[in-house]
Amino acid sequence: MSEAISLTHRISVTLFFLIYVVKTVLLLSNRADLLQKFTKSTKVIEMIVSALFLITGVYLMTLLPKIPNLLWIKIILVLASIPVAIIGFKKQNKILAALSLLMITGSYGLAEVQKKKREKGETVAVNNVNGKEIYDAKCVLCHGSDGKAGLSGASDLSVTQLTTDSIKLIIQNGRRTMVKVDITDEQATAVAAYVESSVKGK
Ligand code: HEC
Repeated sequence: MSEAISLTHRISVTLFFLIYVVKTVLLLSNRADLLQKFTKSTKVIEMIVSALFLITGVYLMTLLPKIPNLLWIKIILVLASIPVAIIGFKKQNKILAALSLLMITGSYGLAEVQKKKREKGETVAVNNVNGKEIYDAKCVLCHGSDGKAGLSGASDLSVTQLTTDSIKLIIQNGRRTMVKVDITDEQATAVAAYVESSVKGK
């Protein structure tokens, strides 16, 4: 479910971005007539795309246990670019239009940086404690390497809705039929982060 939403988000953001690039280029190159035609013919698409982009964005945000600083900057940039773009295109003000495109490009770039960071699995290694190693040693037995094994009634970790903090609590205290796992606090943090980044939603 969240995979499909995440994909919809990426596609709508990309379309939104492309429409904006074309519009800005037309405005900057003094093609007012073409700009008007383009704006008119893409009006409905733009409305659908921007609604999808905002709705899916808000939904994805609600899935995060904590909103990273980079994401806040991204959200502020996107939200601030909207009035700038509206005024810029309405008044055919090139500076404002270019500025709004710059803001959107900036937030698009930030999203990429964020993705790279996540792919590198920054959260996995906490002070050199390797979450994956602990997972393989202490969790695979019941949960399996993909989290789906479900041995002795273990929950499917690939579909867990829990946040990193709750996962850590379960590891340290156990829950119903899962006995607590005897590891240090640091190790629990690392393995919870590993479950969050590499098992959940995979
Ligand atoms: C001896 C088997 C066993 C081991 C080892 C084990 N678990 Fe579990 N785990 C379970 C069982 C059984 C449940 C279901 C508990 C329940 O019904 O409340 C569970 C539930 C969970 C849940 C709750 C998921 C949810 O969505 O409700 C998390 C998170 C979890 N385990 C993480 C881990 C992690 C991380 C490790 C390794 C540090 C680990 N477990 C080791 C058996 C195990």
